[in-house]
Amino acid sequence: SKKHKVTIVGSGNWGSTISKIVAENTKENNDLFEEEVQMWVFEENVTIPKDSKHYDASVGDAPQKLTEVINKYHENVKYLPGITLPTNLIANPSLEDAVKNSTILIFNLPHQFIHNVCNQLRGHILPYARGISCIKGVNVTDDSVSLFSEWIGEDLDIYVGALSGANIANEIAAEKWSETTIAYDPPPMDNSRAPTPRSGSPNQAGADIPQIVTHRDARGRESKTKLTPVPAEYPPLDHEIFRQLFHRPYFHVQMVSDVAGVSLGGALKNVVALAAGFVDGRGWGDNAKAAIMRIGLMEMVKFGKEFFGQTVRTSTFTESSAGVADLITSSSGGRNFRCAKKAIEKGISVEEVEKQDLNGQKLQGTSTAFEVYDFLKAKGKNADYPLFTAVRDILKGLKTVDDIPSLVSRVERAQ
Ligand code: NAD
Ligand code: 13P
Repeated sequence: SKKHKVTIVGSGNWGSTISKIVAENTKENNDLFEEEVQMWVFEENVTIPKDSKHYDASVGDAPQKLTEVINKYHENVKYLPGITLPTNLIANPSLEDAVKNSTILIFNLPHQFIHNVCNQLRGHILPYARGISCIKGVNVTDDSVSLFSEWIGEDLDIYVGALSGANIANEIAAEKWSETTIAYDPPPMDNSRAPTPRSGSPNQAGADIPQIVTHRDARGRESKTKLTPVPAEYPPLDHEIFRQLFHRPYFHVQMVSDVAGVSLGGALKNVVALAAGFVDGRGWGDNAKAAIMRIGLMEMVKFGKEFFGQTVRTSTFTESSAGVADLITSSSGGRNFRCAKKAIEKGISVEEVEKQDLNGQKLQGTSTAFEVYDFLKAKGKNADYPLFTAVRDILKGLKTVDDIPSLVSRVERAQ
């Protein structure tokens, strides 16, 4: 039987950490997976800092290609410094080449870049590939909101699930224990309906012929999708195999089917984490932060029920790592929290702190706050989400942190 080939599309702070996890597992489970894992890197020139163990005085500050540095030293010196990556993880600057013949595609990059990446991927992936999106954000266009897992899947005619949890990358890269949630719920397919071998088909019995499958999308609407069955000679892509791909002694995986809940938890908590940073930066302490988390969780559940009510489970927000646990960790030590806190302390914008402090890493909460606001406004609903709205208004300079208490309590009184 054939083995699955895995590619990680993205190589930032989380992209590199997930790549490390996956490459460790493909090596240990080389009966199921090809050991070598490809990691697509958005190529850039880097200079290795003097305090890095890889600093080479003969090269000095001369710029070097990030992919070459990763493949030489097995370290992403820019986005995950100090962490040794497995030698079976290969950094590849060519997106097309990195995904070639891969049956499992893991999308892990800041959400603002995914549209462009999918445009480049179309026509270059296996038709029967399956994906997992580790992206925390929602896809907003005019008055509609969708999940990145679904959007990527529809764009590339593949099925894509979602991974999200209380997962600050640096802690996991250092192999400190954490949990995550993976949602994977592909529509059932008829694998027997592929009798005609196509000439040049890489699969037996022409199993790469697409089928039109009817399924319920994250909104519960019945829709038709073009999907190609995974050929029978590969191990089935089910919950068990994804557990084997992602579970580590220090990274415990819970498999679920609620793709909407997992995706929305990861996206919306970033907006709440900014609010937690705002009140902490204002010096209001732990009670205020807990109030923000409580109100934020309520707005997350409300958003899920209101717009994805047919499929989303409230328990995903209140019980899984992708819900309340991620909200807590992100509001304690996440980048959105830290940058928002510093912005208030220093009296500068969150974007300025992001540029100064993150060395190219990208916040997702700021753009998500604007995107969620635009969507809610188009629906005439933003007054029902006072915390999400307050975060957007503070980012825009229209409101201050001191306005938060009256903004959020006014709506609660009215309910
Ligand atoms: P990051 O914040 O480290 O972002 C930097 C990455 O963006 C680099 O790989 C860089 O090459 C890439 N990039 C820059 N310009 C680009 C372009 N034009 N096109 C494509 N790529 C470009 O990224 P990350 O931390 O890996 O985050 C990826 C996703 O994972 C995000 O949605 C984030 O919310 C989520 N996430 C992050 C963490 C974390 O702790 N870092 C944890 C869980 C989930
Ligand atoms: P930040 O992007 O705010 O660092 O959040 C990381 C995260 O998603 C933790 O689960």
